[in-house]
Amino acid sequence: MSTAATCTRHLLLLLFLSSLLVHPSSSKEENCNKDDRRVLMKIKKDLDIPWTTSVECCEWGGVSCDSDVHPHRVTGIAFQYFFQRYPNSPSHFPEAIGDLPYLTEIYFRKQSNFSGSIPSSIAKLKYLTALDISWINLTGNIPDFFGQLKSLTYLRLSFNKLTGPIPSWLSQIPNLSFIDLSRNMLTGTIPASLGNLKANDQFQLYLSHNQLSGHVPDSFSGFNFFEIDLSRNMLQGDLSMLFGHNKTVLTMDVSRNMFEFDMSKLQLPKSLTHFDISHNKIYGSIPRATIDLELQFFNVSYNRLCGKIPQGGNLQTGFDYSAFFHNLCLCGAPLNVTCK
Ligand SMILES: *[C@@H]1O[C@H](CO)[C@@H](O)[C@H](O)[C@H]1NC(C)=O
Ligand SMILES: *[C@@H]1O[C@H](CO)[C@@H](O)[C@H](O)[C@H]1NC(C)=O
Ligand SMILES: *[C@@H]1O[C@H](CO)[C@@H](O)[C@H](O)[C@H]1NC(C)=O
Ligand SMILES: *[C@@H]1O[C@H](CO)[C@@H](O)[C@H](O)[C@H]1NC(C)=O
Ligand SMILES: *[C@@H]1O[C@H](CO)[C@@H](O)[C@H](O)[C@H]1NC(C)=O
Ligand SMILES: *[C@@H]1O[C@H](CO)[C@@H](O)[C@H](O)[C@H]1NC(C)=O
Repeated sequence: MSTAATCTRHLLLLLFLSSLLVHPSSSKEENCNKDDRRVLMKIKKDLDIPWTTSVECCEWGGVSCDSDVHPHRVTGIAFQYFFQRYPNSPSHFPEAIGDLPYLTEIYFRKQSNFSGSIPSSIAKLKYLTALDISWINLTGNIPDFFGQLKSLTYLRLSFNKLTGPIPSWLSQIPNLSFIDLSRNMLTGTIPASLGNLKANDQFQLYLSHNQLSGHVPDSFSGFNFFEIDLSRNMLQGDLSMLFGHNKTVLTMDVSRNMFEFDMSKLQLPKSLTHFDISHNKIYGSIPRATIDLELQFFNVSYNRLCGKIPQGGNLQTGFDYSAFFHNLCLCGAPLNVTCK
């Protein structure tokens, strides 16, 4: 680090420390927006959260304020701060949260004694970009009023007991680029409209451990995923639309489904490092270009593949026979079957 940068940092630190000293605590308390503080007091009472109210509300545990864009307004709440300490205390989703108009982030995670549903008041939060309601065993369908949260970029609803379909309105949230609906009991097909989301190089889609069926929509061909996990569903058909030389996918897990297509024709992108297609009905042979990849995880076991395992890259050195076994007629190292 340059001396100038170090000086600037020290200066900023000094200014920060002196601001702490100069302002008496009463004026600090006034920093917190009065409306937001009133709403937080309601949430505190509702969930019995032991917030220390003598400091300004932006400093209450799990509460954050973005001082730049909306000074003194509450922009984030992370309830796990409280849940970690009291994991078994009964909880529900506080209705009043919809009255914190500048909220951009809500993390409501890991609570074993949750009951009830998500109130529709949340739909009022027009600046909300990140919504994480996970590990609470939430039941019912994915609420339709989430569709009104047009600013969302990040939606995580994993480790719940959600039922019903993946809603097609997800595609109408223009900047959504992280969707995690894994570990639920969702049924039906993957909506084709999802492919209309902006093809964003950072797209992450996690739908594993559900009961999804049908085909992966052809509209996904325009997508450039960063990570995609469709494992442990009942999906079938072709997946070649996800591949191609110009994709930049890093991780792809489609294991434990009923996919059925010819692997020989796949154009595996150079970026791929984690590839699990085990437990499907995939046929053909392993493309020779696989040896050009820098694979850290590779598993094609329990399929219907045939032919010689390409020799080279880290296919032999990186993975043992279990990455290849239980196929129709694969041969060559690391399998103990010589090619005829
Ligand atoms: C959940 O909260 C209720 C009400 O306080 C309590 O009786 C029950 O023991 C709690 N459940 C667990 C698993 O701690
Ligand atoms: C959710 O329910 C399962 C049982 O179906 C239980 O094992 C798990 O601990 C529950 N999770 C939470 C966070 O309560
Ligand atoms: C989506 O992102 C773009 C670019 O960052 C931004 O201009 C636009 O306002 C965002 N749309 C919504 C609905 O948040
Ligand atoms: C990738 O190539 C296909 C056809 O080869 C093309 O339709 C698509 O637009 C390309 N995608 C990107 C991100 O360049
Ligand atoms: C590949 O997957 C199979 C089936 O799940 C598993 O038994 C095996 O240990 C895995 N091998 C590797 C190298 O990942
Ligand atoms: C491979 O084959 C040889 C010779 O048939 C045998 O001795 C060895 O146990 C086999 N190894 C495995 C891992 O199956």
